Amino acid sequence: CAECFERGLLTGRHVLINAGPTREAIDPVRYLSNHSSGKMGFALAEAAAEAGARVTLVAGPVNLPTPPRVDRVDVTSAAEMLAACEAALPADLFIASAAVADYRPASCAPGKLKKETDSDAGLTLTLIRNPDILATLAGHAQRPGFCVGFAAETDDVLGYASDKLTRKNLDLIVANDVSQPGIGFNADDNAVTLIDRSLAPQPLPRASKHKLARQLIAVIADRLTTSA
Ligand code: CTP
Ligand code: CA
Repeated sequence: CAECFERGLLTGRHVLINAGPTREAIDPVRYLSNHSSGKMGFALAEAAAEAGARVTLVAGPVNLPTPPRVDRVDVTSAAEMLAACEAALPADLFIASAAVADYRPASCAPGKLKKETDSDAGLTLTLIRNPDILATLAGHAQRPGFCVGFAAETDDVLGYASDKLTRKNLDLIVANDVSQPGIGFNADDNAVTLIDRSLAPQPLPRASKHKLARQLIAVIADRLTTSA
């Protein structure tokens, strides 16, 4: 929908997007993370800027160039990502595309951990829950007017996704089936289903993340106008 961008559907809006993985430190040289590439979130930031928005992109560690006219804030951990997102408020729209680590090591060792030299014993790491960035922003005193989540699932995709929509108090959730090869996590293409508060699913068939991002921004801009 190229014309939507020319018409500047998001002109005057502040759009906050987070993207990529987070890294949770085990010690000064090691971390827990995931394979998120950040491509979907960066494509969304680019599309939102093309639609005329002022865009803040809070990015975990990814290897991607910053899209034109996008303000990028680089972070590492989930705690830093939450702080950067809160610092970027107020926003008209929040899109949570980041693959936030659900847990982090209970403590980060001050020095590099050493193996036990005289035993083959394993190592047990104690993990604690990370804050939920999306649920925190959707319940914030400065709640963005429209909050969008992503749900990557392998089974009962629509069931789990609509559960997250309600539980996290979202306006829209973008569900994708990551059990299908070649789409979603760490891929160039995606295929998603949008679910809103009316729980009416709207499929967006397989396309490049660039194309899907433009479709998604057009749909969201339309909902923003209707709900404002
Ligand atoms: N999310 C978040 N902060 C977290 C975990 C998830 O902001 N600590 C956001 C993601 O960015 C995504 C949405 O919540 O937009 C759903 O993420 P997902 O991992 O699918 O949901 P969880 O609530 O973590 O549930 P689970 O991993 O157990 O399926
Ligand atoms: Ca999760």
